[in-house]
Amino acid sequence: MPKIAHIELPEFPLLLAPMEDVSDPPFRAVCKDAGADLMYTEFISSEGLIRSALKSRKKLDIFEYERPIGIQLFGSEISSMEEATRVATEAAPDLIDINYGCPVKNVACKGAGAGILRDIDKMVRMTKAVVDATHLPVTVKTRLGWDESTKNIVEVAERLQDIGIKALTIHGRTRQQMYKGSADWTLIGEVKNNPRMHIPIFGNGDIDTPQKAVTYKNRYGVDGVMIGRASIGNPWIFREIKHFIATGSLLDPPTIEERIAACKKHFYYSLKWKGDKLGMLEMRRHYSNYLKNLPDSKVYRSQLVLLEDIAAIENILDEASNYYSQIPDLQSKVLHQMKVQQQVGHSEDYETNFIDG
Ligand SMILES: Cc1cc2nc3c(=O)[nH]c(=O)nc-3n(C[C@H](O)[C@H](O)[C@H](O)COP(=O)(O)O)c2cc1C
Repeated sequence: MPKIAHIELPEFPLLLAPMEDVSDPPFRAVCKDAGADLMYTEFISSEGLIRSALKSRKKLDIFEYERPIGIQLFGSEISSMEEATRVATEAAPDLIDINYGCPVKNVACKGAGAGILRDIDKMVRMTKAVVDATHLPVTVKTRLGWDESTKNIVEVAERLQDIGIKALTIHGRTRQQMYKGSADWTLIGEVKNNPRMHIPIFGNGDIDTPQKAVTYKNRYGVDGVMIGRASIGNPWIFREIKHFIATGSLLDPPTIEERIAACKKHFYYSLKWKGDKLGMLEMRRHYSNYLKNLPDSKVYRSQLVLLEDIAAIENILDEASNYYSQIPDLQSKVLHQMKVQQQVGHSEDYETNFIDG
């Protein structure tokens, strides 16, 4: 069983990827229900945190039922990262994760996120400072390298392990690739199979079907996989992968009732965590994911994204649930369509919609 310092994880842990504007507490609640074994907050700016910016502080909110959970930090200044680590440690997560993977211009080009892949010595110094600033285990999430000519992850992994990180997640792309093309797991496998490495190595990039998770598990020997885009609107991917690993067969996708129940949970948690007004507004971008593949769902979606009353939204969701339960054979037709997606995956659906992190 892989362990991150003293944190015990199941045999082949499935990690929910940190995702800015996505992996907030409401989304994490539905992913936890569906079987995510280890979760992270969205990335938090070290500068924002030490200046007590409201947005950054709010992202420190974590809840008992979420454990084990990591708080993810990013920044370009070592002293700020050090101080932010102390602030994050006070929030009592199970671990602190450092983001060395964010490719977006206004992060990477300022030397934070994947930007640090251009200065490995600084990356090592920053990591050491973070490790020394907390009693919690520190983990790192990064990419293969800055660009095609600097894919130095094998050396980077050794150096980070030497200065005390307790696990490493590798996204199989370079910074230059952003989210384009497909993730290359070959080097992830090389890191995992390097006899010098003894910390858990988690693979990340394009896992969007149970079959792919198992193929990559067997082919690259990683200790677990991290899943990002494929969990958006489909948190059930976690339980589907677990079922496939345990039985070799595909679990039926969620029923329509389950999808609407998860949507409601997401909605209630949003209201609770963000307040009614903001919770309602921010939930608007999630409805289409939960109603995906359902005939006539536009009728419901178009109302859900306009309504400003909690009871009215609940009514529409109930109405949708009733409507769909009365269509003969709908469940099996939708199940069939979703099964096809289970086979082919759907990470690309999100490629153009989400470019952060
Ligand atoms: C909307 C979005 C936001 C992201 N935000 C973060 C983030 O805050 N921190 C981070 O380390 N990676 C972030 N990422 C990258 C993901 O964690 C993950 O590495 C990437 O999506 C590849 O995995 P996937 O193919 O399973 O989606 C983000 C990705 C997306 C799509």
